[in-house]
Amino acid sequence: MRKITTLTEGWRFLKAAIPAAQAVEFAARGEAVTLPHTWNAIDGQDGGNDYHRGTCWYVRELSAEETAGERLFLEVNGAAMTAEVWFNGEKLIRHEGGYSAFRVELTEKLQEKNILAISVNNEDNTTVYPQKADFTFYGGLYRDVKLIAVPAEHFELLKDGTPGIKVTPVVDLEKMTATITVETWHNAQSVDITINGETKTVERCAEFVIENVHLWDGVDDPYLYTATAKLPSGDEVSTRFGCRVFACDPEKGFFLNGRSYPLRGVSRHQDLKGKGNALSYEDHAADMAIIRELGANTLRLAHYQHAQEFYDLCDENGIVVWAEIPYITMHMQNARQNTLDQMRELITQCYNHPCIAVWGLSNEITAASAVNEELLENHRALNELCHRMDKTRLTTMADVFMLEIESPILEIPDINSYNLYFGWYLGELEQTDEFFDEYHAKYPERVIGFSEYGADANPAFHSSHPEKGDYTEEYQALYHEHMLKMIEQRPYLWATHVWNLFDFAADGRDEGGKHGENQKGLVTFDRSLRKDAFYLYKAAWNKTEAFVHLCGKRYVNRCEEETEIKVYSNREEVTLYVDGTKVGSQSGKTVFRFRIPLLGEHLIRAEAGDVSDTMCIRRVSEPDESYLFNKAAASVTNWFDADDIDPSCFSINDTLGEIRQHPQAGAIVDAMMAKGASERGDVADAVKDNPALQRMMGRMTMLSLLKQGGADEESIKQLNRILQGIKK
Ligand code: GCU
Repeated sequence: MRKITTLTEGWRFLKAAIPAAQAVEFAARGEAVTLPHTWNAIDGQDGGNDYHRGTCWYVRELSAEETAGERLFLEVNGAAMTAEVWFNGEKLIRHEGGYSAFRVELTEKLQEKNILAISVNNEDNTTVYPQKADFTFYGGLYRDVKLIAVPAEHFELLKDGTPGIKVTPVVDLEKMTATITVETWHNAQSVDITINGETKTVERCAEFVIENVHLWDGVDDPYLYTATAKLPSGDEVSTRFGCRVFACDPEKGFFLNGRSYPLRGVSRHQDLKGKGNALSYEDHAADMAIIRELGANTLRLAHYQHAQEFYDLCDENGIVVWAEIPYITMHMQNARQNTLDQMRELITQCYNHPCIAVWGLSNEITAASAVNEELLENHRALNELCHRMDKTRLTTMADVFMLEIESPILEIPDINSYNLYFGWYLGELEQTDEFFDEYHAKYPERVIGFSEYGADANPAFHSSHPEKGDYTEEYQALYHEHMLKMIEQRPYLWATHVWNLFDFAADGRDEGGKHGENQKGLVTFDRSLRKDAFYLYKAAWNKTEAFVHLCGKRYVNRCEEETEIKVYSNREEVTLYVDGTKVGSQSGKTVFRFRIPLLGEHLIRAEAGDVSDTMCIRRVSEPDESYLFNKAAASVTNWFDADDIDPSCFSINDTLGEIRQHPQAGAIVDAMMAKGASERGDVADAVKDNPALQRMMGRMTMLSLLKQGGADEESIKQLNRILQGIKK
């Protein structure tokens, strides 16, 4: 049997880019830390884009007991982003990629006294992804480091961090049988492979047939089998696997085990307030509990390989997963090999997980890179690698909203998904519907999904007139109400993933009243608060736990004569009480809206059968300024009411397309757009040369475009005065 020792205690941490010999010499002066660890747990989450990025060292002595065994290997499960392992003064390995496991043999280098020193670097570079993205590139040994002692005859441990065993189930849904091919890698003469109590002694590979197969059936019944392989030396490995059939139809979307199974879920980054990405199993399990409460049946594990423990949790909970590498935002000429290395390790290490349905090649890679032959070739190479290593899964990629739907890059992966933020970063909510309808009409034979969509919300901000860019909980809820309906009307979307289930760290951000956080989460970064939008999806997706949720609990002080009381529930009838008096009942689905007069302080109660929710709100005479984030933007919107406008003339309420139909008005806005574009450089080219984007912008109002472009209030007023001088 192999002996596995997790090296949690006894490490010394040095925040210093020094030679290995000095790291060992000065180790005693280092900070005593336990693993998992990141040095950016705090500065990576507080804004300023100034978190420490450099080389740091982790040094630890290995005891005689820990190094006992015939062959000794070190396993590092997560060193971000580039690591070097030095052992007794000698560099044994360098690993480039912050999200996959790697191993190295120590046996031949063992001495009387054994000192392990691991350097980790998270600096900018041009050869290791990710380099440009909207999340903190935490540095550290942020997952477990282990010693593995095995007999002389053992399973392969070195190649790409392999588990040593690969299980490929092929299900025949007609016969309800599964043919299981088990491959092993080792240096012995034979291996005993066991599944379901049946053992076969073979050289390396064996095939089993399971009759009356118990399917891995998503969240309803995620049944797992176990395959075990044992060598005569006693070394043994095992892996769980699931028997299921995934399929995608361009018109009907995703199928699981032959039945329609629309993948409706969220994305997750692997970090937590105050801990960075150095998460414990309990942290992972707590996230999974929230995902199950939401009722999601799919997860996009963005933008990199996640911890094995988390894929295990997805296997156990029946969550269908989109796994991907961090080939993101900007293509780098000298990092082609790194994309292939990271993809090869992802597939080698995660192949056996039944939860994984697709391999993601890249994310928004054309956001800052042209679609040229080099980019296309890198994607073709990745796509071919995936298909060579895994005959059972599809490839996909997440495309940025500006990517022309006619782009050749979309023809490389088996299926596609788009990241669209209409109604948040730009444009109007309805442009999402139009985008997919246009794409699906033009390419009815293609499978398309919705890989990212979201709106930031700070639970401190509220409004009875929510609008794009105000960071209120109310706007985020409205945004998602629209998207939920859009999705329900388009069953051809193979998968949809809210961006994001949790607020997460992006140290370069400073918006929405928070420093260093992306607040598109349905749940706050510390997991302490579920925003209203969380309950919208719970009402739509959770079929097991009846609940009713009053929106606006944090919107207590309301400066209005009457107010909307919105309720989310997965029950079909909701009754509302104000100060103990029934004010109404509504039958419906998911969203229930009431309007009540505000006379003073009120106790509001919503009931749906045996479940209920309560809150207190009050009438105030002046707006509560603490609910306002973007006061400047709010003032722009407020001064601008329809009765200020002469509808017989053009105004900034007209769309760019409408205005451009008038030569004089069109010339004015084009001159202004050209001036704005020249200030933006290459992104402007991406816009100018992108008919799809031009079409989208044509449908946007000038006010929307101007606010999107960050125009100040005076410029907006100035342009409006000019346009109001031009008769339609
Ligand atoms: C992009 C990107 C995400 C990012 C998101 C956002 O689509 O893929 O990584 O966090 O937009 O801007 O919130």
